[in-house]
Amino acid sequence: MFLRKFSPEPTPKERQSSRRQFEGSTDRRESSLADYLGKFDLSEDELRGKKVLDIGSSVQAKFASEARDKGIEVISLNPEFASERIGMKMSMREKGLAGVAALAQELPFPDNTFDREVSLHGVPGYLPEFVSEYRLAFQEMIRTLKPGGEAKLFPVSDKLAESQEFKSLLAELTGAEAGAILEELPGQGADHRYRLIIRKKKAD
Ligand SMILES: C[S@@+](CC[C@H](N)C(=O)[O-])C[C@H]1O[C@@H](n2cnc3c(N)ncnc32)[C@H](O)[C@@H]1O
Repeated sequence: MFLRKFSPEPTPKERQSSRRQFEGSTDRRESSLADYLGKFDLSEDELRGKKVLDIGSSVQAKFASEARDKGIEVISLNPEFASERIGMKMSMREKGLAGVAALAQELPFPDNTFDREVSLHGVPGYLPEFVSEYRLAFQEMIRTLKPGGEAKLFPVSDKLAESQEFKSLLAELTGAEAGAILEELPGQGADHRYRLIIRKKKAD
């Protein structure tokens, strides 16, 4: 799911139905801890003892499960947790994993909660194609990160990264509270060319 072009801003009804587009998603990808660490240039030590949020986790929360085995606590967030099979919910509970049913655009957490937030093949690929939805998701990340915290998102396609709307949005988000930068990853195809890093600045 790669955004090719932003659409004009939606009516409230269109916004509601666009947010249901993720339902029936057939991408049942289950990325591993190693996949996350590799794509986000993170180490286990860097995550241990930190509060970590996985936005658009897999429905089996594989990353959180493997991280737990290494002593790393991850909260998995996915709107599909609201409707997923009972068996999946039980297996998460048995493993002691925290799954929260919510959208990136409305994170149900207090301000300054997380040290790290990650989204692998989740946001921005799954967001409805409106600039306002992207703005909400990024603002929510900044709000819920602790000062000095960091959100890492992959992939960002070349079409999205190079669009005027996206560039303007990142410029808008970059200021006294936070900074947003796109890193180009060598050897990736056009749809996987960039990684987005959002850093919340440390309090003075
Ligand atoms: C490709 S899948 C899981 C990817 C997982 N991170 C991995 O790499 O294994 C992406 C998930 O994002 C979820 N999703 C869709 N829209 C979302 C949104 N607005 N906020 C958070 N998650 C969303 C979908 O329900 C889907 O299960």
